[in-house]
Formats: sequence, structure tokens, C-alpha cells
Amino acid sequence: MGSSSILVSTAMRRLEGKVALITGGASGIGEFTARLFAKHGAKVIVVDIQDDLGHSLTKDITDSSSSCASYVHCDVTNEEDVENAVNTAISKYGKLDIMFNNAGITGVNHTKILNFNKFDFQQVIDTNLVGAFLGTKHAARAMIPARHGSIISMGSVAGSVAGLSSHAYTVSKHALVGLTRSTAVELGGYGIRVNCVSPYLVATPMAKKFFGFDDEVMRKFYSNANLKGATLEPQDVAEAALYLASDESKYVSGHNLMVDGGFTICSGDFFGT
Ligand SMILES: NC(=O)c1ccc[n+]([C@@H]2O[C@H](COP(=O)([O-])OP(=O)(O)OC[C@H]3O[C@@H](n4cnc5c(N)ncnc54)[C@H](O)[C@@H]3O)[C@@H](O)[C@H]2O)c1
Repeated sequence: MGSSSILVSTAMRRLEGKVALITGGASGIGEFTARLFAKHGAKVIVVDIQDDLGHSLTKDITDSSSSCASYVHCDVTNEEDVENAVNTAISKYGKLDIMFNNAGITGVNHTKILNFNKFDFQQVIDTNLVGAFLGTKHAARAMIPARHGSIISMGSVAGSVAGLSSHAYTVSKHALVGLTRSTAVELGGYGIRVNCVSPYLVATPMAKKFFGFDDEVMRKFYSNANLKGATLEPQDVAEAALYLASDESKYVSGHNLMVDGGFTICSGDFFGT
């Protein structure tokens, strides 16, 4: 390989030298994002509660890429765990450049508020919203002295449109947009960007279990989106997170990046296409 091709491949790595922490990184969209971030040169810390999956993923990333990845057990609803995960990034690599608050659950599949008990509602809010709050808080603790960083939270189309999921999930994802905007205002003063990424339905273990669908039925849902001829894959969401994590989005903050094939901007089809 000539020196010019080495230069090109280095230039293509959009997170070279950066340190990224991904919550809920052992499975689904988080796993794809961990692999993509490492491919782009980031040192990745995967945190999750699925320890076996997390360990085997980070071993696989380290064995198969030129970057390195490590796993830390962390329940995002537990502040000590989140604090410890961020401290691990600092002690291992001296900094944290990227925080991806991706961990989330759908919770129970209740369609009626009268069937929802407080515990079930709270569990979804604790994981999806309080978890992202704790991730943002402790990432900010590490990023404020450095006066730079990118914090990304995992939203959903359910953060903009109601009636797609349970009350708890819809509320948690709407509130994530508020968390993103509110913290972007404060942290912008320290050069830290805060954004969220909001996908339509992706055929991950979580979505398939919640709806009780296999891949085939999941694909039928894509016909609901405005954009035809494409299906949303976990890689597409990881690519959106990569953009928000990289310096290519250096002036993007407080933004909710929809990855939904136009689903949320379309409530009819006047054009009949
Ligand atoms: N799959 C979809 O259709 C879809 C659409 C929009 C948004 N999302 C969001 O994407 C994110 C990832 O979901 P996914 O579809 O990849 O599902 P997934 O179940 O494959 O991944 C979620 C990961 O989060 C982890 N997790 C759950 N609770 C945790 C906790 N308390 N602490 C730490 N980790 C925890 C799980 O162990 C799992 O590894 C979620 O926030 C979800 O709401 C998913």
C-alpha cells in the first residue's frame, strides 16, 4: 500500500483520536454504533446491563479493528454506575469526547392508561429519560473543563408523534427532546454540543419483542413512511449518530435529527405518488 492510500484511509476516519461512551451498547442500534465509531478511529466504551454480550462485542471490536473497545457494567438508572462509567473513560483515556445516551426500553405493551401502573410507567421514564439525564450530567462533568464534546441522546419518532407506542414510551421520548434542548442551551456556553437522533421503526431485538413481529412483518411497517424504496437499518441510525459525534456537525446543537423517511412530516398524500 502506498503512502497516499494510508493518508486517504486515515482521513476517512471521522472520529480518529476521540473517546466515545455508548450506553445500551451491547445490542441493537448501540452495537452497530459501537462498531461504526471504532471503525472511524474512536476508542469506545460500551456500557450495558447485558454483560456477556457487552464483553464479547468489545472483544470482537478490539480483535477486528485498529481501534480498541472496552466494556463496563452500568445500569443507566443508577447514578453511581453512570459516574463510574464516565470515570473509567477519564482514567483509561484521559478524556471523554462523545457521549451517546442510547440505552432504552419500551416497557410493557399497555395501550390503555387504566392498565398502566405507576411502577411500569416509572421504569420506562427512569431508563429512557433519567438515564439520559444522568449520562448528560456526568458527560458534562468531564467535558466542561475540556470546553468541548458532543452529547447525543436516542430519541424516536415517538418523541414527535403520539399514538405510536405506550404512554410511558411516548412521554419519555418527548421529554428527551426537551432535555436535549435545555442542556444544549447551558452547555453551548462551554463549547459542548447536545443533540438527539430520532429513528422510525428499526428491526432490533427490542422492537421485535415489543410488537411480537418477525423481520418480515417489521418490514411491512416501512410502507407507512413517506420515503419509498428504502428500509431503515440499524446502520442508518449509527451513521446519523456518527455525523452528530464527528466534527462535521461542529455547528449543530440542540437539534433533533429525524431518521424516519419523512414519516413525521406527512399526515396525508395529496400528491398521490
Ligand atoms: N428499534 C426501534 O424501532 C427504535 C426506534 C426508535 C428509537 N429506538 C431507541 O433506540 C435505543 C436502542 O434500542 P434498540 O432498538 O437498539 O434495542 P435493544 O434492546 O437492542 O438495545 C437496547 C440496549 O439497552 C440496554 N439497556 C436497557 N436498559 C438498560 C439500563 N437500565 N442500563 C443500561 N443499559 C440498558 C439493553 O440491555 C440493550 O442492550 C432505545 O433508546 C430505543 O428507545 C429504537
